[in-house]
Amino acid sequence: MVRITSLRSALRQVKSDAVACFVAEDAKLFRGSMGALRKIFGRRIDQAAELGDFRGKEGEVLAVPTERKLSSPLLMLVGLGEGKKLSLERYRRAAANAAKKASSLSRRRMAIEVPDLPAGLPGFTPLPEELALAIAEGAVLSLYKFDRYITEKKGRKKPLTEITLFHPTEEGARNVRRAVGRARILCGATWLARDLENAPGNEIYPETLAEAARRSADEFGYSATIWDKKRIEREGFGGLLAVNSGSARPPRFVILEYNGGKKDLNTIVLVGKGVTFDAGGISIKPAGGMAEMKMDMSGAAAVIAVLGATARLKLPLHLVGLIPATENMPSGSAMRPGDIITHYGGKTSEVDNTDAEGRLILADALAYAKKYGPSVIIDLATLTGACVVALGSYATGMMGNDEQIMERLKRAGEKTFDRVWQLPLFEEYEKQIKSEVADVKNVGGRWAGAITAALFLKKFVGESPWVHLDIAGTAILEEDQPYAPKGGSGAGVRLLIEFLTSWDAVRPS
Ligand code: BES
Ligand code: MN
Ligand code: ZN
Repeated sequence: MVRITSLRSALRQVKSDAVACFVAEDAKLFRGSMGALRKIFGRRIDQAAELGDFRGKEGEVLAVPTERKLSSPLLMLVGLGEGKKLSLERYRRAAANAAKKASSLSRRRMAIEVPDLPAGLPGFTPLPEELALAIAEGAVLSLYKFDRYITEKKGRKKPLTEITLFHPTEEGARNVRRAVGRARILCGATWLARDLENAPGNEIYPETLAEAARRSADEFGYSATIWDKKRIEREGFGGLLAVNSGSARPPRFVILEYNGGKKDLNTIVLVGKGVTFDAGGISIKPAGGMAEMKMDMSGAAAVIAVLGATARLKLPLHLVGLIPATENMPSGSAMRPGDIITHYGGKTSEVDNTDAEGRLILADALAYAKKYGPSVIIDLATLTGACVVALGSYATGMMGNDEQIMERLKRAGEKTFDRVWQLPLFEEYEKQIKSEVADVKNVGGRWAGAITAALFLKKFVGESPWVHLDIAGTAILEEDQPYAPKGGSGAGVRLLIEFLTSWDAVRPS
């Protein structure tokens, strides 16, 4: 990951390859920020803005040579847009624009001034630390690239490798330092999730996904238990075994556990879908776009990343991560449409379409999760194309049986901009997954596909508080987003870390 540091310094003294300052669009705010720069540059700064057609609009970044008026050779004016529309997300995006610009100008290091917010911005009063965190997140995450496999690096630009956030006062710098510490953990976790998602299916398969989980556990100090196929058979995980039966690669079931203290802590169980490649099985997918299905383990990637971050943050929780991992392949030994599976815990399901495999492996894991007596089970899964049709790539589909917890997830989503949107679990939809030969059928027909998938999962959670997050659209990006390039986005990582951070305050054990 890009290095990120903090510093107490005034604008003039910062030594970097480029230094960025935010400028809002409306006359008063624009004059305010430009006024501060005018003290250093005189009228030259206004001329530069005018010639560069820079007005502080969202998306604008103007690079101005500093001609030794600063210790850094390049100043970047970074547009924020209208003052009344300011938000943490605006700062994330503006910081991302600045970082991408610095990178395209071949700068190796960049410094960003963390501003003091002018008084009289009603509706936008973040804590100084939150503002600095948002700036750090936008800048760092925008620089992500999956280029490990590109060997011909000649002629390619050297990447931007260090970002420094600074503030001139002692108190300001202290807030920045705290924010940067947190940003390292949040961005590190998102980075890890993206790397796992984007890694191809011939690198990340169940055994190597489990090893990646073990590496994270060793590095950050939590425990990992990995079940091999024999153990999975003994435990009776019929769904995981059925989905795996067409694959040459054996399945794994990973149990991650972090205990933030010795007392009786609240237990939260996270379950992540770990399909390392989803060809669809016998109900095979069409060729177009199938390569994306190397990212069908994005739920698992998020769970691994969140456990690592939780351990680094030393949150006062008992956090368990469960990952059923397998490929979903067609072959002579693959499960067939019409097969009936007996899941962990004894419930049965009828396989009507082998491409609805995620719910089959999650069923075992969710039934198993109950044994921890959790305060909540949250599953993350790239579960349905229907969710992508409904919500696109800017909201994770959320369904569950506990409105209070879902409210908290909504708030965490708004704060991090890793957003969720609730869909209903009306019982009227249940008849779509009724089976005549088993307890439940694995597909529910054409309509409300995200909901019928969640209703299938609901059958296996019993009375436990539970929330399902369908990240099919948000984790697998077909186009760039402001600080997430096309490909795996790490969706759910910052959402859940924020959710877990605010958890113990509200539900003491
Ligand atoms: N992994 C896919 C869902 C998916 C689709 C994720 C597109 C990301 C982008 C899942 O296993 C799947 O194939 N779902 C089927 C279910 C159907 C057969 C009921 C789907 O959505 O088409
Ligand atoms: Mn599938
Ligand atoms: Zn799938």
